[in-house]
Amino acid sequence: MKQILLLGGTGWLGQTLARQGLERGHQVTALARGTGPFVLGVRAVVADRESPGAYEKVADTAWDLVIELTDRPRFAREAVGFLGEAAGNWVFVSSCSVYALQSEPEADETATTLEPLPDADDGEDADFGRAKSACEEASMRYRDGKALVIRPGLIGGPGDPSGRSTYWPLRFAERRDPVLVPKVPEGEAPVQIIDVRDLAAFILEAGLAGEHGYVNAVGEVHSLGQALDLAREAAAAVAASNGTPEPSRQLVGYEVSRMAEDQVNPWAGPTSLPLLLPQEDGYAGFARRSDARALQLGLRRRSLRQMFEDIVSTGEGLEVDSLCSGLTAAEEQLLVGRRGTSHGQMSPGVGV
Ligand SMILES: NC(=O)c1ccc[n+]([C@@H]2O[C@H](COP(=O)([O-])OP(=O)(O)OC[C@H]3O[C@@H](n4cnc5c(N)ncnc54)[C@H](OP(=O)(O)O)[C@@H]3O)[C@@H](O)[C@H]2O)c1
Repeated sequence: MKQILLLGGTGWLGQTLARQGLERGHQVTALARGTGPFVLGVRAVVADRESPGAYEKVADTAWDLVIELTDRPRFAREAVGFLGEAAGNWVFVSSCSVYALQSEPEADETATTLEPLPDADDGEDADFGRAKSACEEASMRYRDGKALVIRPGLIGGPGDPSGRSTYWPLRFAERRDPVLVPKVPEGEAPVQIIDVRDLAAFILEAGLAGEHGYVNAVGEVHSLGQALDLAREAAAAVAASNGTPEPSRQLVGYEVSRMAEDQVNPWAGPTSLPLLLPQEDGYAGFARRSDARALQLGLRRRSLRQMFEDIVSTGEGLEVDSLCSGLTAAEEQLLVGRRGTSHGQMSPGVGV
């Protein structure tokens, strides 16, 4: 049994780490304010990292592994300064947003990163990529390089609070025809999602194994068309196993060149086509990061189809209108009436 400290532990990934740590027989402590719930069985240490002495309550234990989840450089620096010397292993959960360029497909961990945020700019609204870059720098410096910096790409799976990975499978599961899908050339618009459960397992295993250095933690690359096919297949498979009627199957292709005029957003958020990348120059390498080092360190990934099935089975009855990303039923209907161009059954890709 190992002693694991989560600096965080009440968010989506933090809770998943806590559950898996407990399931593996470890003692898990989580330090957070508690704006989200602490997982049952975890030792909860309620503390505000803005306040002096925030780490004193966790200074009495010889931690085998500390997992830092913050995006605040000051928090990262103070925590590793206070606890870093005594801890056996240290993981900082960073992000692929630290990379300076998104233009090179298959770029690995040696790619140039953004300049770390200066101390004076630390705050809630700081530039996320530069803030994570400053947290990385502090973690490595205080630990003399003996830290593991994990850079996740887009995280998805059941319960995704952003709605980016859940919109399409839940939309197909709704049995409301037709489904508005973006028209993108066959094989284009990459999608690279790591399941939150696979990411948590990797963080715990690589962290406890004492790995260090930098590693991208990313999903397999699919085109958006393939991802939509998998989302629709997953919805159909869950309906078949439950003996419920077949879900939505009729598609309407939507010209993405009309998005600005229609005020439809790419990628995420309200009134959006989730997972569709901004159609801008310089994005050829986005969602196409190298996964070679992670696989070498033991990352195991379930298939995207499996992730989508789990999203549908665990999210049954959850309407897409309640998600943080995507089109509401009313918005979709409006766009179908105004912009829908061609109809068809699901086929490989989304060029209907
Ligand atoms: N979602 C993605 O696709 C994606 C992609 C790349 C990287 N990431 C990274 O993956 C991680 C996701 O973590 P997560 O899902 O667990 O959620 P999170 O919201 O990023 O977790 C932040 C944690 O810090 C705690 N916290 C915030 N302010 C605090 C304060 N003043 N004092 C004490 N604790 C404080 C929060 O707890 P309380 O609010 O309860 O205090 C929470 O547990 C993050 O590091 C994120 O940057 C995410």
